[in-house]
Amino acid sequence: MVTGATGRTGSLLFLALQSAGIEARAFVRNITKAREVLGCKACDESEGIYVGDITDPETLGNALRGVRRLVILTSSYPLQLPNGTYYFPPGEYPKDIDWIGSNNQVRTALMAGSVEHILLVSSMGTTQPDTFLDKLGDGHALFYKLNGEIDLMASGIPSYTIIKPGGLLSTEGGRSLLLAGHNDRLMHARVTRADVASVLLAAILNPKHSRNLRFDLSSDPDQPAGSLLSLFEDARDWSGSWNNNVQL
Ligand SMILES: *[C@@H]1O[C@H](CO)[C@@H](O)[C@H](O)[C@H]1NC(C)=O
Ligand SMILES: *[C@@H]1O[C@H](CO)[C@@H](O)[C@H](O)[C@H]1NC(C)=O
Repeated sequence: MVTGATGRTGSLLFLALQSAGIEARAFVRNITKAREVLGCKACDESEGIYVGDITDPETLGNALRGVRRLVILTSSYPLQLPNGTYYFPPGEYPKDIDWIGSNNQVRTALMAGSVEHILLVSSMGTTQPDTFLDKLGDGHALFYKLNGEIDLMASGIPSYTIIKPGGLLSTEGGRSLLLAGHNDRLMHARVTRADVASVLLAAILNPKHSRNLRFDLSSDPDQPAGSLLSLFEDARDWSGSWNNNVQL
């Protein structure tokens, strides 16, 4: 099951799962948007579309029944006022979505009993407090995303995969070499949403390779795409990632 499935990465992943012949569920808040971006007709449970809200664990519990893998692709999203300042809608602050909302998903998945692997898309840039992005809209999104990651890792789920992409691009995927790193040390800190979706699909299809990984994801547009399995191998290598002193 993919949450945040009508989002830009979530919809790419849900459609890719369907194309790969994998029985997938989309957890969505807005059925009109689901109809627009997921190509469903009835847009109900018969087509794998489950309507609910991650801040409402009851709706999650129904959707997660029998699910083996959960991909958490929900994220807080800052909006901009005409004068250029950013804000979050009430109830949709990073604390509500990236920490408590993520936690609701993890805990409900554990209670469902069938979930053996949770994949979480967080963000690069969590090693340094009070950066521009973290302070946007007074949300501390990166701080709360880091807390969401920690709660997943400590949850006791048999397997987790945490992907921390750099700046997200909406351009085509499959063109650039993907890079795995740690502690915000990657130089080329940008990656396409399509590539994030491909990494998630590969992680789902290769659970042994993606088991209990947490890594930064970026890309080098000057090098051709490589194997996703070697990306997971690179992600296990923390050498050179300690003694971090980076400028974001
Ligand atoms: C649901 O999605 C539609 C289409 O994207 C949008 O026009 C509408 O405002 C959304 N509704 C809510 C409550 O967000
Ligand atoms: C921008 O607009 C909001 C809402 O009107 C206001 O609260 C805020 O103080 C403004 N910020 C600046 C920098 O003008």
